Amino acid sequence: MQLSEIGVIAVIGGTGAEGSGLAWRWANAGLDVIIGSRSAGRGAEKAEELNQRLGKPALRGTDNLSAAEQADVVVLSVPYESQAMILDSILPALPGKKLITIVAPLLGEKKGRYQPAPGGSAAVEAQNQAGENVTVVAAFQNVGAHHLVDIDHEIDCDVLVCGDDKAARDVAVALVQAAGMNGVHAGALQNAAVAEGLTALLISVNAIYRIKDAGIRITGLPA
Ligand SMILES: NC(=O)c1ccc[n+]([C@@H]2O[C@H](COP(=O)([O-])OP(=O)(O)OC[C@H]3O[C@@H](n4cnc5c(N)ncnc54)[C@H](OP(=O)(O)O)[C@@H]3O)[C@@H](O)[C@H]2O)c1
Repeated sequence: MQLSEIGVIAVIGGTGAEGSGLAWRWANAGLDVIIGSRSAGRGAEKAEELNQRLGKPALRGTDNLSAAEQADVVVLSVPYESQAMILDSILPALPGKKLITIVAPLLGEKKGRYQPAPGGSAAVEAQNQAGENVTVVAAFQNVGAHHLVDIDHEIDCDVLVCGDDKAARDVAVALVQAAGMNGVHAGALQNAAVAEGLTALLISVNAIYRIKDAGIRITGLPA
C-alpha cells in the first residue's frame, strides 16, 4: 500500500509519549497527522513542539473530536482506564473509518503481571463500543515509547497487527513500516488479547534485565 492512500491520521491522546512518538515518525515519513487531546490548546502545543523538532510545520493539533472528524484513520493512544470515556467522546466521528488502537491495559498494582480486560481485550471492548460501522485494528501494543522520538534509532522489533478486516490491517501494517518497524499480520481482532498480554510480559523483562526496550520478533517469516 502507498502511504499516499492512507489519508489524514488523527492520534487521539497524541500528547502522550507513545502517541506523540508515533505521530512524529509518521509526520517525518510525509504523512498528514493531527494530534488530538482533551484540550485543543494542549494538542496544538504538542504539534508545535513536534514541528520544532522536525524542522517543518508538518503536524496540527486540536481537540480529540475535531481531530477524529478530520481524519481518515483514527489512532487511539490513551490509557485503558480512559478508553471508554474518550471513545464515547469521538464516536460521532468514527462511522466508516478505521480505528487503530494502541491501548494496552495494565490492570492491577503490578504492571508487569498481566490481567485481561473484562471484555477479553481492550481492542474487542473498543470494537463492541464503536459498533460494526467502525473497523478496529490493534497494533503497536509491544512498542515502548522510549526510542520513538529518536528518529535515528532503529527499533529492533516486529509489530503484531490484529484485526478482522484485511484491508484495515494493511493500513496498520503500512503505518508500522512508515514508523520504521516491521508489521506482521497476526490474525483476528480476538488475538489482540495476546499482544496486550505481551505488554505486561515485556514490562517484566525490562525490569528483570534493567533495560527499556524489550521487544518481540516473529521468526520464520518469508524474507
Ligand atoms: N508508553 C509506552 O511505552 C507504551 C507502549 C505500548 C503501548 N502503550 C499504550 O499506549 C497508550 C498510550 O500510552 P502513553 O504512554 O502515551 O499514555 P499517557 O501518556 O498516559 O496518555 C496518553 C494521553 O491520554 C490522555 N490521558 C491521560 N490520562 C487520561 C485520563 N485519565 N483520562 C483521559 N485521557 C487521559 C492524555 O492526553 P490529554 O491530556 O492531552 O487529553 C495523555 O497525554 C496506553 O494505552 C498504553 O498502554 C504505551
